[in-house]
Amino acid sequence: MPELKLPFLGHGGDYNPDQWRDRPDILEEDVRLMKLAGCNLMSVGIFAWSALEPREGEYDFGWLGDVLDRLHAAGISVFLATPSGARPAWMSRRYPEVLRVRPDGQRNLHGERHNHCFTSPVYRAFVGRINRALVERFGHHPAVVGWHLSNEYGGECHCALCQQAFRAWLKARYGTLEALNRAWWTGFWSKTYSDWEELHSPSPVGETSIHGLNLAWRRFVTHQTADFMRAEAAPIREVTPELPVTTNLMEIFGGLDYFEFCRDLDFASFDSYPRWGGPDGEWTALCAAFNYDWMRTLKQRPFALMESTPSQVNWHDVCKLKKPGMHLLSSLQAVAHGADTVQYFQWRKSRGAAEKFHGAVVDHVGHEHTRTFREVQSVSGALAKLDDVRGAMPEVRAALLFDTQNRWALEDCQGPRRDMGYLETVLEHYRALRRHGVALDVIDETCDFERYHLVAAPMLYMLRPGVAERLEAFVRRGGTLVCSCRTGCVDEDDLCFLGDFPGPLRQTLGLWVEETDALYDGEANGIRMNDGRSYTCRALCDRIHPETAETLGVYTADFYAGEPCVTRNGLGEGAAYYIATRPDAEFLDDFYTGIADRAGLECPLRGLPVGVGAMARGGLLFVMNFTGRAVRASLPEGVDVLAGRRTGGETELPVNGVLAIRPGR
Ligand code: GAL
Ligand code: ZN
Repeated sequence: MPELKLPFLGHGGDYNPDQWRDRPDILEEDVRLMKLAGCNLMSVGIFAWSALEPREGEYDFGWLGDVLDRLHAAGISVFLATPSGARPAWMSRRYPEVLRVRPDGQRNLHGERHNHCFTSPVYRAFVGRINRALVERFGHHPAVVGWHLSNEYGGECHCALCQQAFRAWLKARYGTLEALNRAWWTGFWSKTYSDWEELHSPSPVGETSIHGLNLAWRRFVTHQTADFMRAEAAPIREVTPELPVTTNLMEIFGGLDYFEFCRDLDFASFDSYPRWGGPDGEWTALCAAFNYDWMRTLKQRPFALMESTPSQVNWHDVCKLKKPGMHLLSSLQAVAHGADTVQYFQWRKSRGAAEKFHGAVVDHVGHEHTRTFREVQSVSGALAKLDDVRGAMPEVRAALLFDTQNRWALEDCQGPRRDMGYLETVLEHYRALRRHGVALDVIDETCDFERYHLVAAPMLYMLRPGVAERLEAFVRRGGTLVCSCRTGCVDEDDLCFLGDFPGPLRQTLGLWVEETDALYDGEANGIRMNDGRSYTCRALCDRIHPETAETLGVYTADFYAGEPCVTRNGLGEGAAYYIATRPDAEFLDDFYTGIADRAGLECPLRGLPVGVGAMARGGLLFVMNFTGRAVRASLPEGVDVLAGRRTGGETELPVNGVLAIRPGR
């Protein structure tokens, strides 16, 4: 697998010269401004299909060649994009099968983007042809250092071709209709299928109540999208096997199983649009960091921050400007967590259409004398001093298990609450561990657990085959496992485990769950620990029966007051904890402080003020102030390579301050 090997930390953005072909002066000026901004990496051609193939079979690549030559002459590298994210109108008109069909069976009209059928042989053929032409013409151009496939793959198509492909996929997965009927429990409501042709994707005007079908469909969508992506990458892999291939992924995206999807990519890249400037800076920063940790873990490689905005977006409900310093801070946060590039949507604001007010390095004013431009320059200045981190992976010995297929199953789950709060729960555990300074991978059920000391796996509702066994082996060999309510309920087809929950994790956790109470929003129960500390909890309360587990805390209210709520099961060399409810932040903070100490996790800079993040990468310790105010923190002795100043002892961190400390005297 080719790696992303840049001789520098990448800095640049989506560049759309296709929109400015009638303005050679602007195309020239772009290069001057890129050099001035300290940019060295542009993503080119992402939505350029109608400029590249204005009429069927007529390619116009000359302008793109000029752009690549010009960038190369200026020492700027390029991720060359394939244009499949949006197609020309002539294609939809002549070949309507390329248009996506909605779940209600209605075919879309031509419009928008990201709206093609992933199965259509016609679309695949068009994409294959233009990609081959692009790679043959430009694959060996000295500016090109990698491929940017399409844009933000996502969505689904319900056309007849996709239904056929779905049925074929089901046949391959289940073999026989009997096996499928059994796995989906179709005896319920008389759903038994008697012919493969009866199978159809879930639809609001059809079937939504077979959870096994819903899960299968979502798995198929990942499979089919990845299959499309493989097909579009085939000519590229053939002609330029040495160049790494990526596509840009989205924030906490649940439409695709990214671990599965990314098996075909050489490195992950990410589009990051946090709501900076909101009321809770710590939470915003945590969500961003969570995504970065996920992206790094997907391939266990540094990732590209493929998109971010240098100022504001145009699609949040309220699009705040990044306050002074926030752009540098937020960019270096991605680097601290594993990014080898800082890139933007977009280089230059378009003059018209949907994104004309989306932030860009170059505004409509067209020159460099803007605050945003200076903030971007500050990032190039910093990146030049951070070369130590390039290619480096942080040392990580703890993992948070966030499994997309589990998320699908939980989202579909009917009872005991409509919203099970999986994502929020995962983020709450993440916050507690990060507050304690623990570096985390964000893994899924298919990842190797053995490389970690601690695996936190809240709400692991759906256990795919072998996962419980691997978790048990992990604990027996000395690992620490943390589970919480709604664990081990269903198998990979969404069938409940018989013999009660937590199903195949019963022995590992040393308990069984008799029933689960649901609390109204705003309603709470309490937890009292053996040492007397007490906390609140909410949403869900399992009533549990410890078998080999010891009780660490009990409920304080309702008819199950005094019953166990927090347990620990020693097993082999390790231990498995169970938190039978959704506890408050104070509980998780205290709980993970104890756990991290016992699991021997080294925490850089524990005890930082809440909202100040720390992350070590490539021998540098990044300290990042997301609190929105100046705070005092105790820093290790060393040198902040950004400011070129010695550090040590109590120090004031300015608003949006960021340091990269090389420890030492
Ligand atoms: C991304 C997309 C870009 C641009 C950007 C705006 O999701 O890939 O093309 O639309 O959002 O923030
Ligand atoms: Zn389709």
